[in-house]
Amino acid sequence: MDWAVIVVLNVMFQPSLSVLFTVEAERTVYDSKFGEDVVMGCRFQPQLSNPQADLKVTWHWFTSTLVRDVYRMDNRKENLASRDPDYRGRVMLLTDELRDGWSKLKISRLRINDSGTYQCLVETEEGADYKTTTLSVVAPYKSVTKHIEKAAGGDELLLSCQSEGYPESPVMWQDGHLKTLNSNTTAVTTPRQLVKVTSQIRVGSSAKNNYTCIFTKDGSSATFKIPDEIPVPQKKNDALIVVLSIGVIMVAIIVAMLFYRRQKGCRGHSTRNLFVDGRGKSVSVDACSAKNKGNDEEITIFNEGCMEEHLGAFLKDHYSNFPLSTEVRPHCEAFAAEELPYRLQNNEGQPVSLQALLPEAGEVVFLEGPPGSGKMTANILVSSWTEDPTHAVSKLLNLSTVRFLFTVDCSRVKGDLFQEIKMQLSLMQKTGDELRTFLTSEALLVLDGYREGNHFFDESVRNFLMEREGCRVLITSCPGQCPILNDTVVTGRTLQIQNKVGRS
Ligand SMILES: *[C@@H]1O[C@H](CO)[C@@H](O)[C@H](O)[C@H]1NC(C)=O
Ligand SMILES: *[C@@H]1O[C@H](CO)[C@@H](O)[C@H](O)[C@H]1NC(C)=O
Ligand SMILES: *[C@@H]1O[C@H](CO)[C@@H](O)[C@H](O)[C@H]1NC(C)=O
Repeated sequence: MDWAVIVVLNVMFQPSLSVLFTVEAERTVYDSKFGEDVVMGCRFQPQLSNPQADLKVTWHWFTSTLVRDVYRMDNRKENLASRDPDYRGRVMLLTDELRDGWSKLKISRLRINDSGTYQCLVETEEGADYKTTTLSVVAPYKSVTKHIEKAAGGDELLLSCQSEGYPESPVMWQDGHLKTLNSNTTAVTTPRQLVKVTSQIRVGSSAKNNYTCIFTKDGSSATFKIPDEIPVPQKKNDALIVVLSIGVIMVAIIVAMLFYRRQKGCRGHSTRNLFVDGRGKSVSVDACSAKNKGNDEEITIFNEGCMEEHLGAFLKDHYSNFPLSTEVRPHCEAFAAEELPYRLQNNEGQPVSLQALLPEAGEVVFLEGPPGSGKMTANILVSSWTEDPTHAVSKLLNLSTVRFLFTVDCSRVKGDLFQEIKMQLSLMQKTGDELRTFLTSEALLVLDGYREGNHFFDESVRNFLMEREGCRVLITSCPGQCPILNDTVVTGRTLQIQNKVGRS
């Protein structure tokens, strides 16, 4: 007998000699990125002889002091009750793989604190065994935001660079002659546990030079060209400008206040018309009219309260006066009902329902399609949001969680994101900061027909997306027109509208 035959015989007889049940981890370490998905696997042997046999699969995350239940299946039934809240809605077991002896766990939208040690335990009638594996979640430092300002003295400039990632990255500064410069770098942890790193240097404003900050962990960088990028000097008549601006703002506030009272009316008789003023107190409309006679600060607060109450109604009004939507509406409805359901796909090419167009809170959805299809889709969203819920389109797409819908037509942008929202939606009296307070999980921002190339707008969109808390964002574009944004937004989901299909 030669060796090969002995080995074969050995292997053949092995199972009958010992029914040793084993679990092996597919890998010892998984390296993944924040916001992406991971599938971790364990192989168990022998495989189940009977596909219906009892089977318990458990995944735990643990440290020396803490255990989190990630996934548990008892007798083929998923046990959701025991799941740690941190993992709810983000984990699934690839149950088809069980037949082939795999316990594969998929965790979606990875967070930084998903990192750590996982134990995979499998129990069958044949025995039980477990293994551990390690997950490490990092977030690359991608886009760098730069800022330049004149330092107090006037002869100096304060240059700063900021970016978010994980773990903390050192920042190195170099000038145009590759000389390394000393900097002041600070880091804070964001609610999503990313590290926001800010680094500053002070330089003279007279010498011509270039300064580059480099986030050395991932090599992202930004360069300041001095003196080209020095902010335009302020004029002597600063004080006059300030006084004039205050005057203009005051007039705008008063006009806006009158306008809203007339249009939507803080009508004194409605008892359900309660709203919360700037200090979190509930005030009645009567009280708000009374405050109206108070000082300027009170007027502003009053106006904000009204605004919040009525912004939704104001936007709906704005969209229904939008001439396009009345003309285009019948086309939209036909498109929504007859074409879109057959043409809308996820990035794996599987058809998805129209409801997939609504991003979850905090989610960014990219919708790619042939020219015109994005505009049509934006119109559908607008119609379904403004129409009453019994309307045909609203049945296909439920937008009842959206309190504020902001659409920006990107084909004609000139300013930054907030300027465009204000211009296009006639919200001129709002400041960027005020608008920001409305861009929460109750808001859907649609950037329609987005195409990279307007540096100013692109940068403001990137900054907004980095800082957005819960705002839902849908970006429509033709394929390949926003590559940088696609790279920057790590938590995005992509949908596609296929070219017209030949249906009979
Ligand atoms: C700064 O950069 C520009 C273009 O990148 C280059 O032409 C110029 O020579 C640089 N200046 C210095 C002082 O390094
Ligand atoms: C460094 O920057 C931080 C934040 O910008 C500032 O508070 C601090 O005073 C700076 N420290 C030095 C030594 O410049
Ligand atoms: C993990 O991070 C999330 C936010 O990203 C936070 O809500 C949660 O409480 C954290 N869990 C633990 C155990 O630290």
